[in-house]
Amino acid sequence: MAKQLQVLFLSSEVEPFAKTGGLADVAGALPKFIKGLDHEIRVMMPRYGSINDRTARLHDMSRLSDIRIPVGTQEHKGSVQSSFLSNGHGKVQVYFLSNPDFFGRKGIYVHPETGKEFSDNDDRFIFFCRGVLETLKALAWQPDVIHCNDWHTGLVPAYLKTIYKDDPFYKGTKTLFTIHNMAYQGVFPKQSFVKTLLPEEFSNDKGIAQNGSINMLKAGLLFADGINTVSETYAEEIASSPEFGFGLEDLIKKRKADVGGILNGADYHLWNPEVDPYIPHKYDSSTIEVKKQNTAALRKHMGLSEMENTPVIGIVSRLAEQKGIDLLCEAMDDIMALGIQMVVLGVGPKEFSKPLESAARKYKGRIAVDGSFNEPLAHLIEAGSDMFLMPSRYEPCGLNQMYSMRYGTVPIARATGGLEDTIEEFSPEKKTGTGFKFIAFEKRELIKAIQRAVKTYADPDAWRALMLNGMGKDFSWEESAKKYVQLYRTLERR
Ligand code: ADP
Ligand code: GLC
Repeated sequence: MAKQLQVLFLSSEVEPFAKTGGLADVAGALPKFIKGLDHEIRVMMPRYGSINDRTARLHDMSRLSDIRIPVGTQEHKGSVQSSFLSNGHGKVQVYFLSNPDFFGRKGIYVHPETGKEFSDNDDRFIFFCRGVLETLKALAWQPDVIHCNDWHTGLVPAYLKTIYKDDPFYKGTKTLFTIHNMAYQGVFPKQSFVKTLLPEEFSNDKGIAQNGSINMLKAGLLFADGINTVSETYAEEIASSPEFGFGLEDLIKKRKADVGGILNGADYHLWNPEVDPYIPHKYDSSTIEVKKQNTAALRKHMGLSEMENTPVIGIVSRLAEQKGIDLLCEAMDDIMALGIQMVVLGVGPKEFSKPLESAARKYKGRIAVDGSFNEPLAHLIEAGSDMFLMPSRYEPCGLNQMYSMRYGTVPIARATGGLEDTIEEFSPEKKTGTGFKFIAFEKRELIKAIQRAVKTYADPDAWRALMLNGMGKDFSWEESAKKYVQLYRTLERR
């Protein structure tokens, strides 16, 4: 029998402890499925001030109450608390690395009121990366693989290949770096380099600098033993042009042999209309008509008018450049002329929230916008909407389109990244397919895709077939978890 692997999974967000987007969903789910394949996997994340000791069931680990972690010329104290992720797949231990100065405040990356990036994000994540490696030593646990995710963990592979290169403790440890988003790179002024304590030779563009700034994503890409991203199409896209590679496309090209795509899964323990605790009326594909009662509940909750036979389009999204909110707003009048209602749930800067709010004022009773982060409402929107819109400029994987399909909510999306890989265009003739896609990032194409959806909606038989096609899809994590285990094993052999 193949040897059981020991894996440490690192993420700056983990559902249900801290979340701004899909990275948290992945970090809260994938480890449970890897554990389900009989491997030892544990998770480590920062202990943010927003995490509640009681609801997160945190326990102090007295053995790990005084870890010394150097950042630049200073030594900081770290301590570790512990909790679990659990579902039918057993328990996964989660370590929370704590330092009140760096992580005690509310907010993960930005100030919750102003939306401004914290000015010490360099120190915070240098501390985290170095702290991870010091914690493992204090724990005396030697993982075979450290699975790093996004720029916040990018320095870990760099440290293992430099400062800890000759450390016998890490002799057998390999790193996998998973890219969830090439646009967020952890870019800091050149002066931040000294705080990393990496050898000076890596301070330039041949090392972890990019155009003169320190780039923590680049550190991960340069030093990790293996790299992957979260869909096959995105793996191709990020090597293809600056539009997707955000300046690091050449490095991706150089490591092309190492950069594969493993599609994210959906955690159907959390996203399943049969058992979803957040939706008032449970249903499945045999009771699909119950969905309408959730639509009524959603309309009521959001203050939308009762409009029989009018499709409701849902959006749950970070309001960011990536998500095509600007294209949506540009096309809004034409979209509304198609006779639809719309619900938007999303947090983001004024440049995106303001035009949405003014559209909601203009189309009172037909568009409703909520600017909060609201997990229960996200579920109600999945259950109550007829269609789900994702007009993304790029989308490494995207999770909501997969959740939508399970709820019989038809995705309309730009054909990019994981959206391209998970949605099949509906064919009115063959009644095959699960949604509607558009290729060019253009207003006209977006409107045409919504038009096709609205036309299909007007034919109840076709619409029912389309909903059932989506509900019958299986995006569960099992297959992807197996692929990660295979990938871990290839690293071990390197
Ligand atoms: P991304 O990671 O780029 O934000 P994904 O589609 O992978 O996009 O994942 C987004 C996740 O965040 C989904 O679980 C979605 O429901 C959730 N989400 C985004 N915005 C909100 C919000 N305002 N309230 C609740 N959940 C949200
Ligand atoms: C990122 C991407 C999103 C992906 C998520 C989880 O935030 O924007 O497409 O689904 O990570 O991998």
